[in-house]
Amino acid sequence: MSETENKSVEITKGVNGLEKIILREIRGSSAEVYLYGAHVTSWKNEQGEELLFVSSKAIFKPSKPIRGGIPICFPQFSNMGSLEAHGFARNRVWTIDTDPPPLLPNVTDGVFVDLLLKPTEEDLKIWPHSFEYRLRVTLGPGGDLMLTSRIRNTNTDGKAFTFTFAYHTYFSVSDISEVRVEGLETFDYLDNLKNRERYTEQGDAITFESEVDKIYLSTPTKIAILDHEKKRTFVVRKDGLPDAVVWNPWDKKAKAMADFGDDEYKHMLCVEAAAIEKPITLKPGEEWKVRQELSAVPSSYFSGQLDPSKVLQSS
Ligand code: BG6
Repeated sequence: MSETENKSVEITKGVNGLEKIILREIRGSSAEVYLYGAHVTSWKNEQGEELLFVSSKAIFKPSKPIRGGIPICFPQFSNMGSLEAHGFARNRVWTIDTDPPPLLPNVTDGVFVDLLLKPTEEDLKIWPHSFEYRLRVTLGPGGDLMLTSRIRNTNTDGKAFTFTFAYHTYFSVSDISEVRVEGLETFDYLDNLKNRERYTEQGDAITFESEVDKIYLSTPTKIAILDHEKKRTFVVRKDGLPDAVVWNPWDKKAKAMADFGDDEYKHMLCVEAAAIEKPITLKPGEEWKVRQELSAVPSSYFSGQLDPSKVLQSS
C-alpha cells in the first residue's frame, strides 16, 4: 500500500459489512475496491462524479458477483465447460498483499493497493491448478485508474495451465443512444448473440440501438468511449490484452437479470479489455502480466479531432 500526507489508503467496511479499500488522491479523485472479487466498485473524478456504473440492485453478498464496477473474469471469460460463468476470481475473497514482489517499472506516482488471490482446496477441486494472482489497483495523480494483473503458475506437478481473462468494466454513461465507441472499426469480432460467428465491423464508430454482445479480436491498445450528453470521453489503454468485449444487455435481458434495474441499460456500457480468442498458457514458474489504464477527459479535449485514428494515436 502507498501513502503520504495528501493521499490515502483507507480500509473500511462497505455494503453488508464487506471489507473495502478506499484510495484517495491529492486533487480529490478516489476509487473503491472490495476484497470480495478484488472488485473496483467506484472511480470518481476530482469533481466527485462517479465514472463507473454499479446497479442499484447489485447484490453485495458472496457468492453472487457484484453487478457493475470492474469484475475480474478469471480463469475463464464466459460460460464454457464446468467452471462458473466468467470464472471464480470475481466471487472469492482476496487478501491484501502486504509484501508483493516488486512491480517493474516501479512507478511511485499515485496511490495503490496490492491484492492477492490463491486457490483454496475447494477451488482446486473445480480448477486443479495452483496459482498466485496479484492485482495492483492504482489511482494516478491525475485521477487515472490503473489495474495491473500478474498471474503466476505455482503448480508443483509440472503441469501448465490455460485460461482466458477480462477486465469486465462497466462505464457509467448518460444515455446509451448518445454514446459511440471509437477504435474498433474495421476489426473482426465474434458475435455472442450469434453463436460466436465471426464478422467484420463496418468503418463507422460503433453506436447503440439494441442489444450488443461482441468480442472484438486483436484490437489496438486504445479505445475511446464518447458520451456526447456528458461531454466526456473515456479512454481505455490496454497492454497485453488483445481482445475487447462490448456489451449492453438492452431492455429484454435487463428485465431478465435479477440484480439489474429494468432501465439501467440506458446508463451503462461494458467495454472489456480481454484475452479470449487465444487462451493464455503458463508453464510452472511462468508469470503473465497485463494492464488496463482508464482515463476520463472532457470531450472538448478531443474536439475537432474525433477522427478515431487521431484520438487513438494521441498519447
Ligand atoms: C459479458 C458477456 O461480458 O458479460 C455477456 O459478453 C454476459 O454474454 C455479460 O451476459 C454478463 O455476464 P454476467 O455473468 O456478469 O451476468
